Amino acid sequence: MPPLPRGAAVVDLGCAPGAWLQVLVDQLGSEARLVGVDLVPVPELAGPVTLLELDITAPDAPARIAKALGRPADAVLSDTAPKLSGIPDVDRAAGDELCEAALRIAQELLVPRGTLVVKGFPGPESDRFRARLRARFDRVSELRPEAKRSTSKEFYWLACSGAPSGRGQRRRSRRGTRA
Ligand SMILES: C[S@@+](CC[C@H](N)C(=O)[O-])C[C@H]1O[C@@H](n2cnc3c(N)ncnc32)[C@H](O)[C@@H]1O
Repeated sequence: MPPLPRGAAVVDLGCAPGAWLQVLVDQLGSEARLVGVDLVPVPELAGPVTLLELDITAPDAPARIAKALGRPADAVLSDTAPKLSGIPDVDRAAGDELCEAALRIAQELLVPRGTLVVKGFPGPESDRFRARLRARFDRVSELRPEAKRSTSKEFYWLACSGAPSGRGQRRRSRRGTRA
């Protein structure tokens, strides 16, 4: 997880059973705002946490999360993973859909310099998703958790300094025109 300032507002997508949320509560303090979202119920946590039982791919997910958070998000974290069917194409498509949903939520909720962390799913869509992240964030990298076995393919996208490129480019091109 990237270092986040105390008091940060953070959305944790796919938060059950709550391990990341517990770390966030411990690190960010009582002034933080945390919203945990999952398809399944999560045991109540002490601290500044609101829990939503919600499918992150639902059309109203960004609005419901924004309402629960009550202010723009400093970070959106997604550890969502689909229930595996055992059919590779189906499972890859489900993983890609979760990545897209996390990006959509980040685009709607993040502060201009906010951070997005998304569990990645290796496959043909991976390069396209990286390109979509690069179009919207200044820096995009892949993180492989040290705790995972070296054979694990699990990784996370880390996208930060996330001025949406549209806004940043408009600002830059206006300056360019004047100069
Ligand atoms: C690997 S677990 C997350 C573990 C969690 N980060 C923690 O710290 O305890 C993945 C979670 O993604 C959730 N998930 C999968 N699809 C989802 C969806 N469409 N919307 C919300 N949560 C989803 C699953 O229910 C599961 O709890």
